[in-house]
Amino acid sequence: MEQDAFDLAHISLRPLSLSDADDFMVWATDERVAKFCTWESSTSKDAAADYIQNNAKSCSLFQAICLGDRVIGFISVRSFEGNDEGRAKSAELGYVLGFKYWGKGIATKVVKQVVEMAFADLPDLERLEAVVDVENVASQRVLEKAGFRREGILRKFLFMKGKSRDMVMFSVISDEVGA
Ligand SMILES: CC(C)(COP(=O)(O)OP(=O)(O)OC[C@H]1O[C@@H](n2cnc3c(N)ncnc32)[C@H](O)[C@@H]1OP(=O)(O)O)[C@@H](O)C(=O)NCCC(=O)NCCS
Repeated sequence: MEQDAFDLAHISLRPLSLSDADDFMVWATDERVAKFCTWESSTSKDAAADYIQNNAKSCSLFQAICLGDRVIGFISVRSFEGNDEGRAKSAELGYVLGFKYWGKGIATKVVKQVVEMAFADLPDLERLEAVVDVENVASQRVLEKAGFRREGILRKFLFMKGKSRDMVMFSVISDEVGA
């Protein structure tokens, strides 16, 4: 897809905090953004604040995607450590971007950056995975461009929005980072 002239140098990451709840509402209430996400688009500001607080606590990395000083999305890494010891060396990547910023290469840039950060900051991490709806072609493309390997389809893996959905499993492993 053709990308607008857009300077990716204006994109940066910083920790997402409760004071970002107003910016967060812009994409959290947008059905186009929520379509392939587990949350519903009709989120209240209190629900957004809870989501931010819970993720800030439970994620190893929970970053605001910023354009200048405006928050336009977030990206997270959630470790499985503590929940499932057999998967203690794995973590899951998630990301969301406000609709008006799609198609400019922003997600690809920050996913690449966060892969480097995650393997640098989490010394025990061996596998970073992302699970994407089979219909979410843009997100699959982002992961491919960022160096993830497509591992296969998990049939009826996730019950979301009233339906069990087929998901694609992607991963990048420690041996592949910085190689
Ligand atoms: C998925 C998402 C983060 C992508 O962000 P983005 O900044 O637009 O992604 P990029 O611009 O870096 O790359 C998108 C790629 O997908 C491609 N793409 C987008 N829509 C597409 C479609 N319908 N069919 C085929 N390719 C498509 C683009 O052309 C681009 O690939 P290219 O550079 O080879 O042309 C954004 O759409 C989003 O926030 N979606 C809602 C939340 C979500 O789905 N999160 C991920 C959950 S796993």
